[in-house]
Amino acid sequence: MRRLIHPALALAACLLAFAGCSESGGDGAVSDRKDQAARGAELIAAKGCGTCHEIPGIDGATGRVGPPLDHMGDRMFIAGMIRNTAENMQVWLTDPQSVVPGNAMPDTGLEADEAEDVAAYLESLR
Ligand code: HEC
Repeated sequence: MRRLIHPALALAACLLAFAGCSESGGDGAVSDRKDQAARGAELIAAKGCGTCHEIPGIDGATGRVGPPLDHMGDRMFIAGMIRNTAENMQVWLTDPQSVVPGNAMPDTGLEADEAEDVAAYLESLR
């Protein structure tokens, strides 16, 4: 029995260490984050966020319907409603109407993993 438990615990410890590593921003985590942000930038361009938002680093993103997204990584709140964390940004991006019912930002059609990439790009805007 012990022999069965030990590898499982070791695996759990490994996973925890890995999660801790990406939180604290080791070298590997930084480049993962950069890859995510690069994919996020492509998604932002593909989804047409720039028709409503001015977004640094995205060609043609000069919209004036919503607020400009410059310095998004430094802001305290999203839409003035929820704390600007990675998780909350994914909630906002996948379902903005659940956060501020009736606001002018439509459902963007982003999948959860896509929203994570877009959030990584927005987080990089300092
Ligand atoms: C039809 C216009 C429209 C489109 C398309 C749109 N948004 Fe928005 N967005 C808005 C509006 C309007 C708000 C302000 C909502 C509020 O504050 O209640 C907003 C708010 C935001 C915010 C919060 C900004 C802040 O200052 O807190 C983020 C982040 C955001 N949008 C990202 C995106 C992304 C990424 C896309 C594309 C996947 C996108 N939006 C597509 C209209 C749009």
